[in-house]
Amino acid sequence: MAIISTAGLARTFQTNSGPVEAVRGVDLTVQPGEILGFLGPNGAGKTTTLRMLTTLLPPTGGAATVAGCDLVRDPAGVRCRAGYVAQSGGIDPTVSVREELVTQGRLYRLTKAEAAARTEELAKDLDLTDLLDRKAGALSGGQRRRLDIAMGLMHRPEVLFLDEPTTGLDPGSRADLWDLVRRLRDEHGTTVFLTTHYLDEADELSDRLVIVDKGVVVAEGTPAALKERYAGSADATLQDAFLAITGRGPAPVDTTPVAV
Ligand SMILES: Nc1ncnc2c1ncn2[C@@H]1O[C@H](COP(=O)(O)OP(=O)(O)O)[C@@H](O)[C@H]1O
Ligand SMILES: [Mg+2]
Repeated sequence: MAIISTAGLARTFQTNSGPVEAVRGVDLTVQPGEILGFLGPNGAGKTTTLRMLTTLLPPTGGAATVAGCDLVRDPAGVRCRAGYVAQSGGIDPTVSVREELVTQGRLYRLTKAEAAARTEELAKDLDLTDLLDRKAGALSGGQRRRLDIAMGLMHRPEVLFLDEPTTGLDPGSRADLWDLVRRLRDEHGTTVFLTTHYLDEADELSDRLVIVDKGVVVAEGTPAALKERYAGSADATLQDAFLAITGRGPAPVDTTPVAV
């Protein structure tokens, strides 16, 4: 049975300049233990979809279940089974890594002793042990991202939603994060639903891809199947397939003139 299932999931924002249909009806399913790459050009509705699936934003249409819980009828059920790491993490730079993690555990109603034990366990798993007494503001980008993810894992979620977890990271930290995502799947059976702007990363890491554009799903399949179908060969790059599907690159094209 699917661990995530959406039907016509939609969200319209009312703005001063009229309604914005950020998500216009997304239908997708994700199987347990899958790493699902959720791709699309800027403004396609990825973050809005993730915020709905993690109950941070109520849908204005459609329905979805996450880990067996209905988004609208049982948001508390979804919250205790899903973890979310936002595009820009909400970590307090003045607090130590340990305090940040213990507080998160307490928010999830762990006892002090449980929160302390889970903090040690996660720190070991995410290579944060030597950093536990450092202020979050003093971490490198890669270390900070590992802390963001540890926060999202505190309550042992069955499903982890990661919004652009590797944006801005150096290649080494990105590779570490890929390993971590794979270990979550392989050792804990965690389902990972992630967005990324890096198509090489999506290709390497994802079991399956769902591509959205203008608030709807426009293609889905394994990376190899999408390359074969849209770029003519499984040896093509995902970039080629992505361009064929959306007519655009994943990131805004830099049109800054080169200084001469
Ligand atoms: N709170 C909001 N109010 C109005 N428009 C929004 C809001 N959040 C997102 N949008 C709009 O919805 C669309 C999808 O945004 P988003 O989900 O952030 O896209 P993505 O993550 O794929 O880049 C964009 O046009 C964005 O400007
Ligand atoms: Mg986004």
